[in-house]
Amino acid sequence: PFDLAAVEAIIAQRKATPGALLPILHDIQGVVGYIPPSIVPAIAEGLNISRAEVHGVITYYHFFRQHPVGEHVVQICRAEACQARGCEALADHAKELLGCDFHGTTDDNKFTLQTVYCLGQCASGPAIQIDDDLYARVSKEKFNSLIQAKRG
Ligand code: FES
Repeated sequence: PFDLAAVEAIIAQRKATPGALLPILHDIQGVVGYIPPSIVPAIAEGLNISRAEVHGVITYYHFFRQHPVGEHVVQICRAEACQARGCEALADHAKELLGCDFHGTTDDNKFTLQTVYCLGQCASGPAIQIDDDLYARVSKEKFNSLIQAKRG
């Protein structure tokens, strides 16, 4: 479910340029939102390098995603200090409310749920981050209203 023609055009357009792999990956993620694993062979072929090399670069840079993400990324801290403050109960609640597991995306593509290990808010956990915004002392109720606000 992505625009294969657009991705092929990106590869065709850039493949002759030296060092084209990173720009190609950036462009694909820009257009598709992530790097579909199924496109790796076409990139490798276009650049005349191995699939393993392409895959290595994609996994080396955390910037590149291999799965689509929703409109908002919800990260729940599950490191030690937040665990002591009940983040696992919050995590269960989040999964139930959103109807998806960690690394999953809601059916309406609105939210992707992720785990993070420490957001620097250890004294006031449970801590979460939604997109670029940090929230501390997140109760279930607070979580509900944050999600509600993003749902609009
Ligand atoms: Fe959760 Fe540090 S452990 S913010």
